[in-house]
Amino acid sequence: MTQNNLFFSSKEFKNKAWVKDKKIYKEAEKNPVKFWEKLAAKLFWFKKWKKSFVHNPPYSRVKLGTGRLAESENRPYFQWFAGGKINITENIFEKNLLGWEKIKNKTAVIWEPEPTNEEPKKLTYEELFKQVCKFANALKKLGVKKGDRVGIYLPMIPEAIISVLACARIGAVHTVIFSAFSPAALKIRLQDTGAKILITADGYYRRGRIIDLKKSADHGTKETKVKKVVVIKRAGNKIFFKKTRDLWWHELLKKENDYCKPAIMDAGDLLFLLATSGSTGRPKQTMHACGGYAVQAYWTGKWIFDFHQNDIFWCTADLGWVTGHTYGCYSPLLNGICFLFFEGAPDWPKPDRWAQIIEKYGVSIFYTAPTAIRMFEKYGEKIIKKYKFKKLRVLGTVGEPIDEDAWQWYFKNVGKSRCPIVDTWWQTETGGILISSLPGVGPFKPAFVGLPFPGIKFDILNEQGKSCKIGEQGNLVILPPFAPGLLQGLYKNPKKYKETYWSQYGNKAYFTSDGAIKDKQGLIRIVGRVDDVLKVAGHRITTGELENAVAKHPEITECAVIGIPDAIKGEVPIIFIVSKKIHKIGFCLEIKQEIIEQIKKEIGPIALPKEIYMVEDLPKTRSGKIMRRILKKLFIAEAPLNNCKANLTGQDLGDLSTLSNPETVEKIKKIIQQK
Ligand code: PRX
Repeated sequence: MTQNNLFFSSKEFKNKAWVKDKKIYKEAEKNPVKFWEKLAAKLFWFKKWKKSFVHNPPYSRVKLGTGRLAESENRPYFQWFAGGKINITENIFEKNLLGWEKIKNKTAVIWEPEPTNEEPKKLTYEELFKQVCKFANALKKLGVKKGDRVGIYLPMIPEAIISVLACARIGAVHTVIFSAFSPAALKIRLQDTGAKILITADGYYRRGRIIDLKKSADHGTKETKVKKVVVIKRAGNKIFFKKTRDLWWHELLKKENDYCKPAIMDAGDLLFLLATSGSTGRPKQTMHACGGYAVQAYWTGKWIFDFHQNDIFWCTADLGWVTGHTYGCYSPLLNGICFLFFEGAPDWPKPDRWAQIIEKYGVSIFYTAPTAIRMFEKYGEKIIKKYKFKKLRVLGTVGEPIDEDAWQWYFKNVGKSRCPIVDTWWQTETGGILISSLPGVGPFKPAFVGLPFPGIKFDILNEQGKSCKIGEQGNLVILPPFAPGLLQGLYKNPKKYKETYWSQYGNKAYFTSDGAIKDKQGLIRIVGRVDDVLKVAGHRITTGELENAVAKHPEITECAVIGIPDAIKGEVPIIFIVSKKIHKIGFCLEIKQEIIEQIKKEIGPIALPKEIYMVEDLPKTRSGKIMRRILKKLFIAEAPLNNCKANLTGQDLGDLSTLSNPETVEKIKKIIQQK
């Protein structure tokens, strides 16, 4: 159904939806704390909380659980479910809200390997539970205790889920590192979290090739505290196996009992650390706590994706990202539904692999990123025409703004004009979705994420801290009582935590770093980041991170990274480099190749630039600050998200009078023109 570019789901959909009445918003707004308290009470707690929400708690009087870390005691500015005792795996298995007897023989995970000639695997809830317990017992034998950090550097194989849940079972803090990250990126993350154990695999398949993951793990664990490495045999490739340190997963599990008692966790104890890009070169480790995260993961999944017993859910995100954590693992499991876990790339070996998978398993809810949708669109409608997608009933998108064209394409060609699209806004920091229209309520408006989830209060503020008018762009902030799953701090970095999230508007508003606009229905449109974060194919990378990687090259004296719009990836990096040897023949090409290799080594292939320009100098203010804004203005998109063209007309570059070297702008323009 459509009305003035607003879409609503069908009556039939509404009738079956968990939430169909918009009065839920009013109810939640009256008293958001009570609202969340009611939702939280549905989960299983060993002991109920003493206080559901405290703003600015007096920390000296708050009893900290064992997973709490002393160096972070001066955070956060709020607490949810203080004093409550919980274990998320108990809520997934024995105390699942659907009832253990009902779900134990049901398929929890369907694993689709990348090679098409390999058999998929299915694990029932009971089988998964036993594996989790076995590995949890093995971890305990390796000396892992409550609060210890465990690194997980794995491809999309069932053991990745088992590892995450095994940590949660015993109260260890999992810290998953995306398997495509380079050894250097792995090392930083292991150093920052202080993990003593790493779980990895021999190798995995990517576009038909075997990637030697163990080799990366061997390099990445150097100069870290990692004492033991558990290795899963996945690809069967030859690896270096250090007997005093490495252990085979299958051998470890052989000896273990299939039951492990759950650790009793304080609501505020750490469940996981997950690195994300911040405003500096080094990633920040976001801290997520057991109680609030479980509540938010359960309810947002249930209401936004409208999880029902017979659903088959496919979230395409890798477990290495927060979307993979919450909706590719915890949320579907807490809701007792079946979900798909796919090892490969969605367009390999053929562009319609993703469509084949949806059809083969009868996926009913499909959750992916705009970058993937634009890629599917690029391959053309022809390749998916033959698919009926009869079982599909809800579509989701996440990670970056979705433009109207991609939205319409997704709606018509994948959803066959019958499935609501839930555009979901959230961040690594928020732990779960916070803005999205509910599928049984709507409305859905292309390019708008929708309404805040019931019980979550947002505002859009101008620089002075005043609420923006309808249609006016400002900074998106979350107001008290914030969100139960919102990060509890940045690991070992309370200063950065305060600076990044709580300094723009004080401790009464969490600063999201996103620009946003509200329409008259209260629907929110995300304009994009207001900091130095780029979203490249939905992945979060900072200009600082990339600049650090490039600057390590000995011939580079200076560099600047900007993000420009891209038709498929949403945004791509462009790098400007300065070197003394600029005039040496052949040097340019050589150095560019070396920089590509350097980025692969320092970060991984996700951060590769679209273009590298060798320039004599970078535009700078008199105080020496590089003006990335001007470099960016040299590239102006003809239309949002269309192929970006360089703006070489020289118009509208802003005021250049503050530059100490305005002549560089002309020179850079010429270099771009030569391309
Ligand atoms: O800018 C917003 C964008 O992604 C950022 C968070 O990135 P990350 O921590 O990697 O988490 C991504 C997955 C949860 C946000 O600050 N973003 C996320 N979802 C949307 C979005 N922008 C527009 N629309 C969305 N639905």
